[in-house]
Amino acid sequence: MHNSIPGLGRVMVFLGAALMSASLTVPEGWGEEGVQYGRVGTNVTLLCAGARPGSLVQWRRAGAMALPEGSAIREGALVLPQASLATTGRYSCHGKDSGLLHTVSLQIGHLPGVPFVSCRASDYENFSCSWTSSVDTFLPTRYITTYRKKSQTGEEKQREKSGHVGLCLQDPFHPGTCTVHGSEFWSSYRLNITEVNPLGSSFRLLDITMQAIIKPDPPEGLVVEPIPLAPRRLYVSWKYPSSWPKEPHFQLRFRLQYRPVIHRSWSVVETVNLSEVITDAFAGLEHVVQVSAKDFLDAGNWSEWSAEARATPVRELPTTAIEETTTDASLETLAEEPSQAPNPEPINRSDPLEKMAILVSLGIFAFFVLAAVLVIIVLIWLRVRKHGKDETKPHNFLVAASHLKARPTEAQIL
Ligand SMILES: *[C@@H]1O[C@H](CO)[C@@H](O)[C@H](O)[C@H]1NC(C)=O
Ligand SMILES: *[C@@H]1O[C@H](CO)[C@@H](O)[C@H](O)[C@H]1NC(C)=O
Repeated sequence: MHNSIPGLGRVMVFLGAALMSASLTVPEGWGEEGVQYGRVGTNVTLLCAGARPGSLVQWRRAGAMALPEGSAIREGALVLPQASLATTGRYSCHGKDSGLLHTVSLQIGHLPGVPFVSCRASDYENFSCSWTSSVDTFLPTRYITTYRKKSQTGEEKQREKSGHVGLCLQDPFHPGTCTVHGSEFWSSYRLNITEVNPLGSSFRLLDITMQAIIKPDPPEGLVVEPIPLAPRRLYVSWKYPSSWPKEPHFQLRFRLQYRPVIHRSWSVVETVNLSEVITDAFAGLEHVVQVSAKDFLDAGNWSEWSAEARATPVRELPTTAIEETTTDASLETLAEEPSQAPNPEPINRSDPLEKMAILVSLGIFAFFVLAAVLVIIVLIWLRVRKHGKDETKPHNFLVAASHLKARPTEAQIL
């Protein structure tokens, strides 16, 4: 993929193409008058325009006599072997008696590398690509950004063969990006991002489909509100991202994440609505909520999370333990009435869910109790076994001790 074009003529052809998209930012040509470009590691020759053939000339660098090491003057031209970035500078040639003849500004750099490119669609009509260079070239650089549409239908295949190339438009106010307008959701595109500098060019091809790269902007206008008399509930609502064109055929679905501010882990719920009732919030604790969006048919990626919104569910009313369940239930039915209108399903759906959750947590609890009992039994058994071993040792010791005791008596007898 590394494509270096040796001839300057070829480069000029690229320039012509690049100017269509980049003419607004970059002036024509590669730099001011009297600039010469050279590649790191090559021999660079500076010609002394204006010198009479055969006459003696003298070269200076930035006005001084000191020239880079190894440089030589051949027929009036200055040859700089193995140019490095440090060879960059302003050189001048002078005649023996006629003074300054010519000045040239030398810039040494690298060939363009293959740029890194990524593309993203924040809606289903246009997509954008952005790139960064992979090599610091130290030289002026431009990008030629084109695409070919690849499609299945025969007619378009024909067009493809005839070489239809579109421009990915570069915006002078957003350098490093280009946009393909009016793209088709079901077509695939081959992007060609070519980095060009005075030494050559290098391109990257990227095949994309809208479905794969679509990533909406985050939803907007997120609002979280406590629900009166419902200590475990929060009402959350949001809007489509303003960048998403409103069309019945291209809808978004959403997911919500929420947690009490003092907790680490998020709970997540998905919905196709523009509002949701959180039913398992913690009474009296401040909660933080975020929402993100994805294409309704699951194409592409989830958006980034929206900005946070916060709210605190109402405090639980002080009631006695027995009354609590009944009061809670009546409160919940009370609380459901106002929220029934905007969003009926989630509430009905969530009550069996709550029961499910309780059952699951009871199961998990039972499992842990069982595991704890097992561990204790194993520990006790190990203990008992160890004790058994330990008891044999003192026994041997006692035997030895009695043996020792027995000896003096023997001696006494003797
Ligand atoms: C896509 O690009 C077209 C043409 O520039 C523009 O009119 C349209 O608003 C863009 N669509 C979106 C969703 O931004
Ligand atoms: C990519 O674009 C550059 C510049 O327009 C061109 O020279 C090169 O051939 C293109 N590559 C492919 C594979 O089309």
